[in-house]
Amino acid sequence: MIRLDMQEMKIGIFDSGIGGLSVLYEAMKTFPTEQFIYYADEVHVPYGEKTQEEIQGYVEAVVEFMLERHVKAIVIACNTATSVSVKALRERYDIPIIGMEPAVKKAIDLYGEKRVLVTATPITVQGAKMKLLVEKVDKHHLADLVALPGLVRFAEKEEFAPQTVSAYLKEALGERKWEDYSSLVLGCTHFNYFKDSFRQVLPEHVKFVDGNAGTVAQLGRKLQERDLQEKLPQSVEYFFSGIPCNEVQLHQIDRLLDRLKKMHDIC
Ligand code: DGL
Repeated sequence: MIRLDMQEMKIGIFDSGIGGLSVLYEAMKTFPTEQFIYYADEVHVPYGEKTQEEIQGYVEAVVEFMLERHVKAIVIACNTATSVSVKALRERYDIPIIGMEPAVKKAIDLYGEKRVLVTATPITVQGAKMKLLVEKVDKHHLADLVALPGLVRFAEKEEFAPQTVSAYLKEALGERKWEDYSSLVLGCTHFNYFKDSFRQVLPEHVKFVDGNAGTVAQLGRKLQERDLQEKLPQSVEYFFSGIPCNEVQLHQIDRLLDRLKKMHDIC
């Protein structure tokens, strides 16, 4: 394949904010010779408390930004944005668009002998896509859904103190017979920052399930199908709502990737 423009070789990954760094983290481990653009829509975060029309508008602007930079594939590292916009985007654009949905199927396949608690943003929990997903994969009515919008706000403020976060989680998850539950689905990419606080509330036998590895595997399949893999020195360009990140923001991203690395080992 003849390529005239080096920029055409990048993979675009975006989220409403810093949650999608958890997908970038996984993608960087899996594809050490790819180049990435990471876009956090910091001006509009949180998406999970906006209207569907607002989110569609934000997402279109991000996708146009990515296309202007000739990305070869786009990963929507945001369950909320996927839930309201992936169908229309795939109809409109020809490049691979990889979306995310809460890993309910994975949780039921792996741990369906007991109940599964699915956590996500309010938009994802209430969306039609979630309803269809649950109807399709939850044949024995094992999934319970809970919205945790507070975690998105905590993550964006880098508020990770386990006492503060676990107090919120106790309240938001409510009284439950945890012995009836096998697993908890992290159905919002921002929630990956809080496995330590979740662990303070959940007994050890409740396993975490997220969709990051599945999303990155799907990206790999799409790159392979279209013969789009690269062998270049790995790099990432970071943007906050279309503006290249400054030194302070790049340091913040380093701290967050560091935290994700620690959270990755909690299962
Ligand atoms: N990180 C996003 C998700 O996976 C949404 C967070 C938000 O902006 O509300 O759903």
